[in-house]
Amino acid sequence: MTRAAITAIGGFLPDNIVTNFDLEKIIDTTDEWITTRTGIKQRHLENDPTKATSDMGVQAVLQLCKKRGISPEEIDLLICATVTPDLIFPATANLISSKLGAKNAWSFDLGAACSGFIYAVSTGAQFIETGRYKKVVIVGADMMSRIIDYTDRTTCVIFGDGAGAVLLEPSNDENGIQDFILHADGSGAQHLRMKAGGSLMPPSHDTINQRLHFVYQEGQAVFKHAVYNMAEVSANIMEKNKLTANDITWLVPHQANKRIIEATAARMGVGSEKVMMNIEKYGNTTAGTLPLLLWDYEKRLKPGDNLILSAFGGGFTWGAMYIKWAYDGSKSGK
Ligand code: UT7
Repeated sequence: MTRAAITAIGGFLPDNIVTNFDLEKIIDTTDEWITTRTGIKQRHLENDPTKATSDMGVQAVLQLCKKRGISPEEIDLLICATVTPDLIFPATANLISSKLGAKNAWSFDLGAACSGFIYAVSTGAQFIETGRYKKVVIVGADMMSRIIDYTDRTTCVIFGDGAGAVLLEPSNDENGIQDFILHADGSGAQHLRMKAGGSLMPPSHDTINQRLHFVYQEGQAVFKHAVYNMAEVSANIMEKNKLTANDITWLVPHQANKRIIEATAARMGVGSEKVMMNIEKYGNTTAGTLPLLLWDYEKRLKPGDNLILSAFGGGFTWGAMYIKWAYDGSKSGK
C-alpha cells in the first residue's frame, strides 16, 4: 500500500498578541488563574476586521508551497478543517483555493472542531493511499476571536486565532501515516456548541440580544470528557500498534488545557520531555493547534520518529493518529 506522508508544513498567526494581563483589564480574571488552570500566557487575536479564517489559511499554504518548492496549481485537493468559516457557505476551503490560484484543486470544509485536523488528515490520506492524487493540502484554521464572547471569562481566556497547513504526498518508504482511530458523540453538543446561527435557530434580533452567536461551553463537563477520552484513545492507538512509551518520540496533543495534556501523557506513560506544547503562546486555536505544533517543532523532527497526534473537541469528536515522520525537519526553511 502507498502510504501518505506529511512532506511540508506552513503556519500563520495574526500579529496582534493579547496577554493574560491585557485580559485582566477587560474582564474579572487574573494571570495567575489563567496560567494555573490552563497553562495559557498569551494568544494571537486578529484585530483587522477585513481579515477572516481563509486569509490565515492562505498564508499557511503559501509558506508550505514555498518550503516544498511547489506551485498552488499542483494541489489536487484542499481540505480546510474549521468551525469559523468565513461564511456559512461557500466553503472556506474554496475561498482559500481561489485566493491561492489553486485552480486544479477541488476543495471542501470539514467541521470537527478541535479534532478537525486529525479528521481531515485521515480523510485526505485516503486519496493518496488509493493512488488517485499526489498532492493533498490539509488546512487547520480557526479565527476563534470572531465567535468568542469577551464578556464571558470562562471562555474568552482560552481561545486564540491561528492556522497551520500540511502537504500530504505519497511516501517513498514505510514512513508516513500508519494508523488512526476516530470517534464522535453528538450528545456532547449539549456541553459545547454555538446555539444560534444555523437552521435550528437562525439569526434574529432576539438571538443577538441573548448573545447566542458565541461559543457556549460547560467547562467542567467538557474537561471531564476530554481528559478521559483523549487519554483513552491515545493509549488505544499505542496498544493497537504495539507501541510502548519508549517507542514514542513525540506526543502531539491538542492544546486546550495543560492539565488535559498532562493527563494524556501520564496515561500513555510518556515523559514531559516528549510532549509538544505551545499552549502558553497561542491558547486554543481549535483546528489550528496540531499543525501549529508540528510547525513549531518541525526543526526537531527526524525521519522515522514516532508521533502520536491526539485531540478532543466539540461534537464531541476525538481521535488519535500514529505517524512515522517522513523528512528531516532541520533541513526545512521557515
Ligand atoms: O478544545 C475544545 C474542548 N475544550 C476543552 O477541552 C476545555 C475543557 N475545560 C477546561 O479546560 C476547564 O474546564 C476551564 C479552563 C474552561 C475552566 O477551568 P476549571 O478548573 O474547570 O474551572 P471551573 O469552571 O470549575 O471554575 C472554577 C472557578 C469558578 O468560580 P467559583 O464558582 O468556584 O467561585 C469560576 O467562576 O473559577 C471561576 N472562573 C474564573 N476565575 C477567574 C472561571 N473562569 C475564570 C477566569 N478567571 N477566566
